[in-house]
Amino acid sequence: MHKRWMAAVAVFCLFLSAAAVDAFAGAHVSESSEKTGILLVTFGSSMTSAQATFDHIQKRVAETYPGIPVRWAYTSRMIRKKLAGQGRHLDSPETALAGMMEEGYTRVAVQSLHMIEGREYQELHRTVEAFRTLGGFRKIVLGKPLLSSQEDMRRCVETILANLPRERRPAEAVVMMGHGTEHPSNAIYAALMFQLQLRDPNIFIGTVEGYPQIDTIKELLLARKIKSAWLLPFMSVAGDHAHNDMAGGQQGSWKSILTRAGVRCRAILKGAADYEGFVDIWVSHLGAALSR
Ligand code: CO
Repeated sequence: MHKRWMAAVAVFCLFLSAAAVDAFAGAHVSESSEKTGILLVTFGSSMTSAQATFDHIQKRVAETYPGIPVRWAYTSRMIRKKLAGQGRHLDSPETALAGMMEEGYTRVAVQSLHMIEGREYQELHRTVEAFRTLGGFRKIVLGKPLLSSQEDMRRCVETILANLPRERRPAEAVVMMGHGTEHPSNAIYAALMFQLQLRDPNIFIGTVEGYPQIDTIKELLLARKIKSAWLLPFMSVAGDHAHNDMAGGQQGSWKSILTRAGVRCRAILKGAADYEGFVDIWVSHLGAALSR
């Protein structure tokens, strides 16, 4: 995080000097036309299959806001590095915003494609605030992640219920894998599970890196004598966690842990952004940001 800040500060210093040169040269000052852009920001994924998911989001955004150019940024340094090794260049939010400033955008809507207001979102928020303070754009706004209000919770519950695996019978569990975080917003996963279980008691949400973990979910399944479970990622894309930690064959995967406990598992490797209902929520948050 420290390094990320240093990079951001360095980028701002560059701008300040560029802005000074521009002011000196009298450039831009008389330009009055607005140039609006959208920056979609995701954690990112190095899996080739994730690109189709990102393309789907891009298509929906382009259909909803035609004529507004759409850019992408990945918040994960690790994934950007990995992709760079394969010859694919992806911007960080700082670099993408710097580029848009350089290209003369005056109004930018940054849309978080994260699930909750966790650490990744908080850092993005700080980046946007820093660019606002810098004043290079006339307007810069940030759209909320997927689960940001009770209304979002309600829409997520409806979307999950409307997209349950077709072959799933009511006695079978649906176990969703959220990412999880040390950030207090982690509590959203259990809150969402509570609201889902009011409608369908056999839907569960666990997390890889937060609470509740798979051991807790396993105990709940065993207490209800559930013999079969469908495993679904509850992350924007079905990436590494979904393919390996959830559905992988290794000892510690959710599939292995539940199978050893006598629960038959079937996995569906589709991320939240593969479902229209979830994309609708992100797109509506972008709309709210654009009209702010
Ligand atoms: Co992770």
